[in-house]
Amino acid sequence: MSDTAGTTATDGLPDAPVGDPPYDTVLVVDFGAQYAQLIARRVREAHVYSEIVPHTMPIAEMLARRPKGIIFSGGPASVHVEDAPGIDTSVYDSGVPILGICYGAQLVAQQLGGEVARTGKGEYGRTQLQVTNRSVLFGDLPSEQDVWMSHFDSIVHPPEGFTATATTGDAAVAALEDVDRRIYGVQFHPEVVHTPRGQELLKAFLYEVCECRPTWTMASVIEQTVDAIRAQVGDERVICGLSGGVDSAVAAALVHKALGDQLTCVYVDIGLMREGESEQVEETFRRQFSMDLVHVKAADRFLEALNDVIEPEGKRRIIGETFWRVFSEVAADHGDARFLVQGTLYPDVVESGSHSDPSSMIKSHHNLIAFPEGLHFELVEPLRSLFKDEVRALGEQLGLPEEIVWRQPFPGPGLAVRIVGTITPERVEILRAADAIVTEEIKRAGLYRELWQSFAVLPAVRTVGVQGDERTYAYPIVIRAVTSDDAMTADWARLPYDLLERLSSRIINEVQGVNRVALDITSKPPGTIEWE
Ligand code: XMP
Repeated sequence: MSDTAGTTATDGLPDAPVGDPPYDTVLVVDFGAQYAQLIARRVREAHVYSEIVPHTMPIAEMLARRPKGIIFSGGPASVHVEDAPGIDTSVYDSGVPILGICYGAQLVAQQLGGEVARTGKGEYGRTQLQVTNRSVLFGDLPSEQDVWMSHFDSIVHPPEGFTATATTGDAAVAALEDVDRRIYGVQFHPEVVHTPRGQELLKAFLYEVCECRPTWTMASVIEQTVDAIRAQVGDERVICGLSGGVDSAVAAALVHKALGDQLTCVYVDIGLMREGESEQVEETFRRQFSMDLVHVKAADRFLEALNDVIEPEGKRRIIGETFWRVFSEVAADHGDARFLVQGTLYPDVVESGSHSDPSSMIKSHHNLIAFPEGLHFELVEPLRSLFKDEVRALGEQLGLPEEIVWRQPFPGPGLAVRIVGTITPERVEILRAADAIVTEEIKRAGLYRELWQSFAVLPAVRTVGVQGDERTYAYPIVIRAVTSDDAMTADWARLPYDLLERLSSRIINEVQGVNRVALDITSKPPGTIEWE
């Protein structure tokens, strides 16, 4: 247990904006690039808690979070364009150490009276950096190193009081600092893997300049979150929907650790789950964790409701409605429960914009969810300040099995959106069996974790084949495997030929009703990851 975590059991979760923060906190000011989340993750990898805030947040609100340091992210804009995102310059007088990255460094230079020029010569990609003045940021790093650049404008003169500490061929001021005011800037991106020593630079800023303590560890997060859940829930009852996926599983395990048998978990088998998924949920939560688990076997109800439904959005709507109906029936049986667990993650919070309103963070603890039957629950969101990789680390620490912790994402409507056309029990069986082979072989090839998703799809056509001496007329299976960071875009995975060969022969030999295997080589866009 760290000496900082747990100093406040105030209103709980680590993102609480008032009072003493339970961890040393670094704010990442978002100037509109996609880099802010990556910077925040890198800071946490250095065991320092980070939060993303919009550049429009009043400085007083930023300071109310008692940050030990502030990092300005990169941004897509030039500081010279109209409406270029800025920040209230009082931040520079706050005494809190600042590190500007790329656009953030240019903003520091420009706002404090230096010169940022449109040199007409940007720098993109891997670039040699030459350290010209020893800086605490570069610590023991060699005086020449590769860094990743992506900028058009360049800082040509640092502001008064600043020293240039590094250059590149095209950037006279690739790094700058005002040691007295503890304001630093780097023109390159230390957060990306293409800057091999970038994490060391970030650590130097966090530990040496901001004097942060590396206390953001999964063990302390568990301890802190357990305290927060107890403080929120008291001795009330809680229910939690389990989907089989990692988020709800980790949320349930955390709440169970905090509250034991005050928690009831509800797992609705909609009949469209992956092979072994329901058994895994039983095994883990009922047997390993001894949780109070309600396993609703509702396959018939879902398949009946989906009878003859072909249109993808129609399938989604019916499954969603049926799910809530089933779930609220179970919830009504547990009408004494006042709280419902939700596995909301930090990127959802950031993307929904609610992080821009700190009061919404406090209120979120008291969010209400209303069910059609007049049921109301307050939400418990124990993962609200965590990134996905942290959720996985937490799951491992809590003793959840690898199959759950590392399971690829799976859509709420399940196999339904991978069965083109009508959904019948027979077609679900075909797809589930083929999908299990895809998963097994992908795992055996050691590719399961590095692929974002890999699965089988069942189209609505049948084609002619020949097996033995007989003509067949059966379904094809399409293999869909993609790499992606966030599912917004995806690339089709270049699976090895020998793996494809095994998949093809196993699926055709082992799955009744399939006589052909095809591979989907469509990226997103223009395709989506799922087929429906
Ligand atoms: P698409 O197919 O739109 O999917 O490229 C992007 C990601 O979202 C998942 N997905 C869903 N998840 N309910 C969900 O919970 C849904 O209805 C749904 N549809 C797609 C999909 O698996 C992929 O990871």
